[in-house]
Amino acid sequence: MADERFLVTGALGCIGAWTCALLAEEGVEVVGFDYGTDDRRLRLATDATIPLVQGDIVDGEGLNRMFDEHGITHVIHLAALLLPQIKPNPPYGTAVNIGGTVNVLDAAKTRGIQVAYASSAAVYSSDDYQGKPVPNEAIGHPMTFYGVHKQACEGLARIFWAEEQVPSIGIRPWIVYGPGRDHGLTASPTLAMAAAAKGEHYRISFGGRTQLQFAPDAARVFIDSARAATEGARVFHLGGPVVSIVDTASEIEAAAPGVTIDVDEETILPFPEEFDGGPLEQAIGPISWTPLAAGVRQTIDRLRAAPG
Ligand SMILES: NC(=O)c1ccc[n+]([C@@H]2O[C@H](COP(=O)([O-])OP(=O)(O)OC[C@H]3O[C@@H](n4cnc5c(N)ncnc54)[C@H](O)[C@@H]3O)[C@@H](O)[C@H]2O)c1
Repeated sequence: MADERFLVTGALGCIGAWTCALLAEEGVEVVGFDYGTDDRRLRLATDATIPLVQGDIVDGEGLNRMFDEHGITHVIHLAALLLPQIKPNPPYGTAVNIGGTVNVLDAAKTRGIQVAYASSAAVYSSDDYQGKPVPNEAIGHPMTFYGVHKQACEGLARIFWAEEQVPSIGIRPWIVYGPGRDHGLTASPTLAMAAAAKGEHYRISFGGRTQLQFAPDAARVFIDSARAATEGARVFHLGGPVVSIVDTASEIEAAAPGVTIDVDEETILPFPEEFDGGPLEQAIGPISWTPLAAGVRQTIDRLRAAPG
């Protein structure tokens, strides 16, 4: 749409890179924001030149300036520190994950900006799982700093709507996989694909069943959500097809003949295995999920073609 200008925070991350790639493909103006400088994930996702601004999301004034300089209309807020990154320094992790989200919502406040932001399935724990898909409105009992941060972000978005009329949609991804997914607690399935792309064996560090969400599909949801965020402060599970990690390993082996992918079936992640994605589709329309076999093949092909 002609008058849209998107800002993507965490643009050099996995989901951020794919979000920038899809917006550039649409011909929409997009600016990426990140404190990093390594653009290898962006290069995996697109050949397009994405304007990048380097800065820390903790710097609210810098963020305000950038919103004005670029005339931003929509923000997709993905910048965050993931679970293992928070552990060594919880105060800074909290400043980034909660403080950064406050800065984004506050910058959106006076500018009429629509916000989509990343929450996480980690706002829940295995105690919240009763053997059926977790309903969208279920109250979570997070067991990690990261999950608590994300739950706080959902609460902040609710207050920024109630008191300041900042419209937002939060999305709770579960396990995103695909080119560029190279770190975090749940990166192991993609690391197995990266090993397979090099002809190497790999052992996935957990088993069980889960929702594996292809990174470009997740990026599409964030874009559609930013456009749908015209009023209220809604939050949705990302949803998607449920797969077993053992079947995922078989798909990787099929895409890379000669490679063996094992699974540590004794280790089960302490989170629910399935979340109800129905309410999200009611809000933004049907989601066309890439089938697992196709996502695995596309990931391995991309990684094989990548330089270095
Ligand atoms: N990948 C998943 O499976 C998953 C699951 C649930 C939620 N999420 C959420 O989705 C979002 C994106 O995840 P991802 O997998 O792309 O993560 P990622 O780690 O690949 O990307 C995050 C990006 O944020 C940037 N960043 C971190 N701190 C920053 C700061 N202070 N200022 C500016 N930039 C900063 C990093 O440099 C990085 O490029 C995150 O908010 C994450 O919590 C991801």
